[in-house]
Amino acid sequence: DARPPILAIDGPAGAGKSTVTRLCAQQLGLKYLDTGAMYRAITWLVLQSQIKLDDQLAIADLVSQSDIKLQLDANPDHPPRVWVQQQDVTDTIRSPEVTQSVSAIAAQSAVRQALVRQQRILGQSGGLAAEGRDIGTQVFPAAGLKIFLTASSLERARRRHKDLEQQGAAPISLEQLEQQIAQRDQKDSQRSLSPLCKAYDAIEIDTDGLSIAVVTDQIVQHYRNRFGI
Ligand code: CDP
Ligand code: CDP
Repeated sequence: DARPPILAIDGPAGAGKSTVTRLCAQQLGLKYLDTGAMYRAITWLVLQSQIKLDDQLAIADLVSQSDIKLQLDANPDHPPRVWVQQQDVTDTIRSPEVTQSVSAIAAQSAVRQALVRQQRILGQSGGLAAEGRDIGTQVFPAAGLKIFLTASSLERARRRHKDLEQQGAAPISLEQLEQQIAQRDQKDSQRSLSPLCKAYDAIEIDTDGLSIAVVTDQIVQHYRNRFGI
């Protein structure tokens, strides 16, 4: 197989997946795929359409007609730009409303089937660094290198708290944020379809106390050592 190997990165909220995967992609010359952004985009669309979160049939119908596009921002410090039905939703998909509802949408089979199909098409020619919850277990089970990023829930809440402060978002206490993150992790880990879990052949990196640069470097080295690139 001459295609550049796929790098799969999974883990809970705030483990550093987006930041680190983007940097690894840059350093290794891979395309970057943020699958969470796709689940967020569908969630935004559902909220927009005022369909109830548990109306699986209506959501399946909506998903079948949805048009989601992702494009990596030219500035590597920024998340990818996301469009739904030609509308730029890059910022709105990070809103607290979407964050609160996304796990309920991501647990539905029609949603997962449609998005996983799109994700596999994006990975067809290899050369992809993809991050999410089920990349190593479901989307690309044959990925060349699988990483499972973790950090304690307090550390992850601290990181997210800092992000929110910098964005000037409505203030929320660290305790409240830790609780919200724990709830989402629990939903993501306990759902029946493709729950968040470490693939048996993934390398686990506990990022507590590790800088972004150190974590990125470890993954880049694993990839280079494994593939001699
Ligand atoms: O960045 P953050 O960790 O807050 O979340 P995200 O990666 O944007 O993902 C948002 C939500 O989408 C997760 O909490 C999951 O419910 C869902 N998701 C999923 O089910 N499978 C994926 N491969 C990626 C995200
Ligand atoms: O994508 P995910 O939810 O896993 O995490 P992220 O959005 O990439 O990272 C959450 C925050 O933690 C960001 O502000 C990162 O800069 C920061 N971070 C960190 O301080 N140390 C790390 N080793 C990884 C991420």
